[in-house]
Amino acid sequence: MKAQKTYKIRCFQQIDSTNTYAMKNLDSLCDKEVITAGIQTAGKGRLNREWVSDGQDNVYLSVVLKPCDSIHKNLPLANLTQYMSVIVCKVVEKYRVSASIKWPNDVLVNGKKIAGILSQASIQGNRLKGLVLGIGVNLNLTREAINKIDQPATALNLEIGRSVNKQPLIEELLDSFFENYELFLKTGFSLIERDYITRSDFLGKEITVNSLDKISTGVAKGFTQDGALVLVGEDSQEKIITMGDVTCS
Ligand code: BTN
Repeated sequence: MKAQKTYKIRCFQQIDSTNTYAMKNLDSLCDKEVITAGIQTAGKGRLNREWVSDGQDNVYLSVVLKPCDSIHKNLPLANLTQYMSVIVCKVVEKYRVSASIKWPNDVLVNGKKIAGILSQASIQGNRLKGLVLGIGVNLNLTREAINKIDQPATALNLEIGRSVNKQPLIEELLDSFFENYELFLKTGFSLIERDYITRSDFLGKEITVNSLDKISTGVAKGFTQDGALVLVGEDSQEKIITMGDVTCS
């Protein structure tokens, strides 16, 4: 007998953005409710970028999370995108490709981005109303569509030479995410540390991190216990970076 799902899914053929919908309707959506879309007309990426979302057979979904009393319990919410990036890698690896993570949560195959994660939170006073974790995975794209993306990108069909069935992949992704979600809330980054580090492809390399107001360069040494990036600058000083966009120098 199949185990009962702990999450439920609301599907849209077309929507502006599953994240925008989830944030607007947060009050009426339940904990662990998932919004999926066939197409997004205004897909959003990190750092105010666009997420190109016009192919029907790709993953565009947002997971609504409402962990209770989260702010008081000091839950590792900032690390949820890193947890999700490991899950995405493991799902993609089932198709016999090797996936890597570009801190904090980009998933790459052959050095090109295949999936991205955008987390948004709604906070009222000192109460977290909810968190929306948006995931986009390029499953089936043409070379022309890939070439229009403003950064090196790929899609699973191009990597394995055949099209990919979207529904089973979405189910696998969500089942795996929720399998250890509660445990992750209790344990934090240490639960995924090994899986995350083995897939981090720039450790030991010279990198540049662009964090909104400043740019830092140095050698990527590793991660703190909270999943922040440790960068060693020219002055040999360690710098802890909690957000930003990494490029190899
Ligand atoms: C990134 O820039 O790497 C994050 C991309 C996140 C894209 C997904 S697609 C589903 C969800 N809805 C959005 O508008 N964005 C996220």
